[in-house]
Formats: sequence, C-alpha cells, structure tokens
Amino acid sequence: MRVLGIETSCDETSAAVLRGTDAASELESLVVLSQDVHRVFGGVVPEIASRAHLTAIVPVVDRALRDAGIEREEIDAIAATNGPGLVGALLVGVCFAKSLAYALDVPVVGVHHMEGHLFATALEDPEAVPPFTALLVSGGHTMLIDVEAWGRYRLLGRTRDDAAGEAFDKVGKLLGLPYPGGPHVERLAREAGSDMRGSSGAPPLRFARPMLRRDQRPGDADFYDVSFSGLKTAVLRAVRESGANDRSAQHGDRSHEAKPGTYSAADIAGAFQDALIETLVEKTARAVEQYRRERVVLGGGVAGNKTLVAAMRARVEPLGARVFAPTTRLATDNAAMIARAGLFRLERGERAELDLEAYASLPLPGLVR
Ligand code: KG4
Ligand code: ZN
Repeated sequence: MRVLGIETSCDETSAAVLRGTDAASELESLVVLSQDVHRVFGGVVPEIASRAHLTAIVPVVDRALRDAGIEREEIDAIAATNGPGLVGALLVGVCFAKSLAYALDVPVVGVHHMEGHLFATALEDPEAVPPFTALLVSGGHTMLIDVEAWGRYRLLGRTRDDAAGEAFDKVGKLLGLPYPGGPHVERLAREAGSDMRGSSGAPPLRFARPMLRRDQRPGDADFYDVSFSGLKTAVLRAVRESGANDRSAQHGDRSHEAKPGTYSAADIAGAFQDALIETLVEKTARAVEQYRRERVVLGGGVAGNKTLVAAMRARVEPLGARVFAPTTRLATDNAAMIARAGLFRLERGERAELDLEAYASLPLPGLVR
C-alpha cells in the first residue's frame, strides 16, 4: 500500500509518501515546510498558520509526489492529522485529504498527532517497536506512555501545566533568544560553567526538580506526572536577579559576572535544562522499571535535544533498556510519521468517512487502563 501522509496541526506544512506494509515500509519522500513567519511574533499565530497552510498545501503535496517519482493516481490511501492541534490549521490538511481521497476514490484515515510521534523513530530504526516505554515531549504535549503493542497505549503520566517544549520556548524568551527557544537554550546551556557557579561568591545555581520526590510511590497521582510552570517562574526570578537577558549575555560575554551573586544566561539555561531533563529521565526510568521494558522510545521536538538523549541513555542503560531517539527531521512535526501511523490504522481496516473532522483536543486512540 502506498500512503500519502499530510500534517498541518501547527506551523509545519508537511507531506510524505510511504510505501509498504505495517511490518516493512519505505519512505519514498518527505517535504516539510516550516512557517518562519511566526518568528517575528515570538510564537505561533493560529490565523496566520491556517492561511500559510492554505498557500502551501498544494505545492508541498505536489513536491512530495514528485520526489517520490509518482503520479497522484498511484496513491492507495491518504492519512491526515485530525487532532490535537490548532483547529484552523488542522482543517486545511483534513479538507485537502478528504477532497483528494474523494477525487481519487481512495480511503482516507484521520491520525492522532501524538500517535504519529510514537511511530517516528520506527521509520529510522526497525527495532524501535513495541513493547517499549515512550516519552513524548513536544511543544504542546508531554506524555509518558507504556506501549504494549502498536495501538495499545497505557498513559502513565503527563504534564499538569506546561509541555516540555513550551517550557524551553518560554525560557528561551526570558533569555532573549529567538523562537522556538528549545534548540537555542540547548546550545546556550553547553556554554554553562561547571556547576553553574556564576560570579564569585555565588553558590552553584540549581533549580528544584519539579514534582520529583523520592517518597513518591507507584499509584500516587504524581509518580509519573510532571509540572514545569514552577520551574519557569524560578528561571524568571534568576534572570531578573542576574540581568541575564541582556543582549551581551546571549553572546557569551561574561563581563556582567563581576556583579557578585549573579549568573550568566548560559548558567541559567544550563541549570534549567538540568532540572527539566532530570525530571523527565527519572520519571521514564520509573516506568522502565515498573513495566520491565527493554526499550525506551523518545518522540516530539524535544527528543531532538542531545543532552536529554545522553542523560536518558546514562540512566536507563544500566537498567537493561536501549534508548531510541529520532533524528531532528523526524523528531519535529512531519508527515512521514503521520503516514506511518496511518498505514497501521489502514491495515487494521480503519477508514474515515467524508465527514471526518478536526479536533483541538483528542484522546489518544487505543488507551488501555
Ligand atoms: O513536536 P514539535 O515539532 O511540535 C509540536 O507538536 O509541538 O515540537 C516543537 C518543540 C518546540 O517547543 C521546540 O522548542 C522544541 O520542540 N525543541 C527542542 C529542541 N528542538 C526542538 N527543545 C529542546 N531542545 C531541542 N534541541
Ligand atoms: Zn508534534
């Protein structure tokens, strides 16, 4: 089966062609057009995103078909993200998918965006398959899931407030970095001094690990959940006290460190990233131990964070688990993962009708208790 995947849930217009079966599939093309326009606003503007998807969808799909070397008539089925996401943005992909499916007389299926992220790594590594512990960390979601089999998901934990990527983006903004902040915060954190010692006389900078305590037990509501809004507030305080959002601080100029008891932007970025990563890694390790999984699969934009991946390996490999992380291209939003999850659903005989809708929020399909 040859599946055309379409993804328009946020600020990437993407199309991909995937061919094969659920057991073995090959990516024939992937086109991702990122809407850079949102940078000037410091965040995604939904109305602008919808319009940009409208302008881009036809050329992006045409390009994906051309790259795959096929004609439209060679598509056997279409899979489009239909939630969760920005409704206006999702609608562009969903309406396009339904219209094309109707014109070509092929089936169409709606894909849950986060199920797509679960499948992303499997496109690159045939061993990134269930059973595994999944940590999905994107701009809008943070989910810890025990994946017994494709389509059988036990949601263990989620964020109570900000998603991991959202926390990175907000901290990036506080430090005066460009949007989206994640990759910039990671880069800046690499310049942090050892122990984030700051200027002379300052104690090492360390933020409290959110919702992480040793006395938590399986079954406690906060055993697997995370929360990042308090961490963001702690960062805000450190930035204000240190004047670390000065332009000079972003370029590694540490001259302001002469002021006693303050920290550079790099130290703050490093201390923030350490706290966030340790929290995610510890919660994942708990799930690996409780469900005795030998694989950990990461997904979502934040899975492109090399420091997170290295920390995850260091923590769970001694427990006997291998870590699988997608490359940046497949970690961030893309239609290849949507085509892959769609292929799974299509092979199970799932089909959507032409009244398929788009949803801002949508429960993950196949949740088990
Ligand atoms: O999965 P994704 O592309 O979009 C959503 O579905 O939300 O994730 C985007 C998020 C953004 O918040 C971005 O800052 C973050 O992923 N991100 C990173 C890194 N690369 C992207 N966060 C931390 N470190 C990175 N290297
Ligand atoms: Zn995403």
